[in-house]
Amino acid sequence: MNKKNDKNKELLSVYEDVMLPNYAPADFIPDRALGSRVWDKNNKEYIDLGGGIAVNSLGHSNPILIKALNDQANKLWHTSNYLSNEPAINLAKKLTELTFAEKVYFSNSGSEANEAAIKIARKFHHDRGENRDELISFENSFHGRSILNISMGGSENHKKGFEPLLSGIKHAKYNDISSVENLVSNKTTAIIIEPVQGEAGVYEADKSFLISLRELCDKNGTLLIMDEVQSGIGRTGHLYGYMKYGIEPDILTSAKGLGGGIPIGATLTKNNIAPSLSTGTHGSTFGGNPIACAVSNKVLEIVSNPTFLDEVKLKEKLMMDLLKEISSKTHVFSGLRSSGLWICCDIKDVDAFELLDRCYENGLILVTAGNKALRFAPALNISEDDISEGLGNLTKALNQI
Ligand SMILES: Cc1ncc(COP(=O)(O)O)c(C=O)c1O
Repeated sequence: MNKKNDKNKELLSVYEDVMLPNYAPADFIPDRALGSRVWDKNNKEYIDLGGGIAVNSLGHSNPILIKALNDQANKLWHTSNYLSNEPAINLAKKLTELTFAEKVYFSNSGSEANEAAIKIARKFHHDRGENRDELISFENSFHGRSILNISMGGSENHKKGFEPLLSGIKHAKYNDISSVENLVSNKTTAIIIEPVQGEAGVYEADKSFLISLRELCDKNGTLLIMDEVQSGIGRTGHLYGYMKYGIEPDILTSAKGLGGGIPIGATLTKNNIAPSLSTGTHGSTFGGNPIACAVSNKVLEIVSNPTFLDEVKLKEKLMMDLLKEISSKTHVFSGLRSSGLWICCDIKDVDAFELLDRCYENGLILVTAGNKALRFAPALNISEDDISEGLGNLTKALNQI
């Protein structure tokens, strides 16, 4: 393409001029999208198997979500938290009906949902006169990019240069109960865990480990927080990841797929804990926004349908079968894991970001997990044809390296 007519390049040169350099975006700019297909500024078509990192749960421009958004946009946009609104009340009601939770707090992102979770946990113990000033999180975990969340997260890269971090946070080994036992005490406010570690590369917690973790929390009077920001809303083939383990958290955080592409965060908890977030103790200007909640209501209605969740598991099998076939032909993968429509391929001998560029060239949008793995988190309603075509594009990309 003549550089002069390249609308992607034109915009990206403006990007470089005006945006902070914390991201290194792809060399094309998405312009419009439908379902699991995306077109860039030059009208090139891509299959989207990254799903906006597990956010576009029902695909792009979903007509049901557009209707919910437009209907609400024509009625009421914003109220402030001096007032409540019907979509937020309905969404909280649905979340409590569908999960362990009895009370909900809304925010705008996963990081904020976690911030609220930790504040609730601290205040809960404070209100009981307990002096608990430690938290336990896990190695390789990811909880967001605020100072609290990088302090809890397992990545040293995310922390470097941002010190001082929050003190009193200890990191245990995932799926190793004795490493948690060694750290837990009557000082532990809460243990925060992803039931499936997403950014680390789709690693599921063992059932026996999570059951023991629940018991350990009960024994020590410590709250169990599940960060389901990425694993929630049908991603694993269950509405929330914890549901397949037969245990319940005390607090759960949700975001990403909950809004289907509209920013929203939610922190869920039980009646015995909720009073600690008493009036005036926490808040958010935009949390519980009527438009975000109206869209989320529809997302939740669709995704919580057991037939829909069964189809997620069927599509997981289809994708895994195809990926195993690709793996045996190309010999590029050194590991393959899935948890619903959430799949990770470890790759050998090639940098994941280099491979990602080849995928883009071949009309495929994906994400990575570190620089040694490719991650798939497509729309949960993706068609079988889009899966096959997308993985066909992956094969083309793999053949080029
Ligand atoms: C498990 C988990 N928690 C929290 C977050 C942070 O969410 P947000 O980027 O919406 O703040 C993420 C984002 O990837 C996540 O995967």
